[in-house]
Amino acid sequence: MQSGFDLPAPGADALAHSARVRDLVATRIAAGGGFLSFADYMDAVLYAPGLGYYSAGARKFGVGGDFVTAPELGSVFARCLARLVRATLRQLGGGVILEVGGGSGALAADLLVALRDEPPERYLLLDISGDLRERQRQTLAARVPELLPRVAWLDALPAESLDGVLLANEVLDALPVERFRMRGGHAAQLGVQSAGGGLAWAEQPAPGPLASAVAELQAALGAPLPDGYTTEIGLRQPAWLRSLLGTVGRGLALCIDYGGTRRDIYHAGRSAGTLVCHYRHRQHTDPFFLPGLQDLTAWVDFSAAAGTAAAAGLEVAGYATQAHTLLASGVLDDLPGADTPLDSDRLRELQEVQRLLMPGEMGERFKVLALSRAFTPDFPLTVRDLRTRL
Ligand SMILES: C[S@@+](CC[C@H](N)C(=O)[O-])C[C@H]1O[C@@H](n2cnc3c(N)ncnc32)[C@H](O)[C@@H]1O
Repeated sequence: MQSGFDLPAPGADALAHSARVRDLVATRIAAGGGFLSFADYMDAVLYAPGLGYYSAGARKFGVGGDFVTAPELGSVFARCLARLVRATLRQLGGGVILEVGGGSGALAADLLVALRDEPPERYLLLDISGDLRERQRQTLAARVPELLPRVAWLDALPAESLDGVLLANEVLDALPVERFRMRGGHAAQLGVQSAGGGLAWAEQPAPGPLASAVAELQAALGAPLPDGYTTEIGLRQPAWLRSLLGTVGRGLALCIDYGGTRRDIYHAGRSAGTLVCHYRHRQHTDPFFLPGLQDLTAWVDFSAAAGTAAAAGLEVAGYATQAHTLLASGVLDDLPGADTPLDSDRLRELQEVQRLLMPGEMGERFKVLALSRAFTPDFPLTVRDLRTRL
């Protein structure tokens, strides 16, 4: 464990698990001649079968885990999305929901509860983590047993296109990213090396695909990134998003994540990038702290995601903050009225709405990118559209 952090100490089993993950990383570093790209490091510590943060049995979400997502706060977020989903499926005359990266199954359960009187034809879940697929199964079996026959878990993207709604909440930010630093006008690739029995940053000249992507990024920004500027870029995201969006026949896709436009993310003031690690509700920036026991994420470049979607033939139907999207989908209708007695449930719901909407919480940092194919929503997706900023 590295020093310098006031983070809760893990138990002996967790430490032993993290040591196994570090051994795996060390093996991959050695196989790569002493250098592992940051994207490959992220892939190993998050998704290595049976070892990675998402693949092994760590608690992850909620109070006993490392971070809280909007669906884990309570059911308000899902009830708002349910109104958008219901309106879409009504307009389409029916359809399916495909949720990618369903986490604990909280969003699926609360959505299906909210849509009980008008359920989707099928609710499909696709998740890279076998551990989480099992948790989703347990959550849904407990919460909506009567709707289980409509639910199916996919091992891969469906071959045929689907009409309906595609949902991805906090998934794009969990895809491995490359990290780089500007050196004398060129990008240097940051990666991982073994050092003193642990792991440390290493640097090498950027390979072709990374160098080209950084050159394209600077062209899109209209100015070079300054020397020393250090940040991330999602080289794997376009191909992943393209194949995901390929499954949308007629309907709406909602990608919800923390992130911003290209200009937000590569702003001069953000010269250390957007990489964040989550461990027991503490945020910090050391990705080598307890590998396998903490989550690693980077902000989503929604300008890039919108460009990928447009190139894949989808329309960018909306881009907005989470707060503005939830306001359009009636979040305030969920607030207890002035004449409602404020019992502990009501107070908890008020707190939940506050966290979902407040700029300093999830309201502004989280954005909603709405994409559509052969479908023009006849209902508002946001109270304030920011597409022109993309
Ligand atoms: C940060 S969690 C978010 C979970 C849930 N959507 C929520 O909001 O609580 C990321 C989820 O995406 C899944 N995931 C990550 N990469 C994936 C991929 N390439 N394909 C499918 N699921 C993926 C993880 O296993 C996990 O369930």
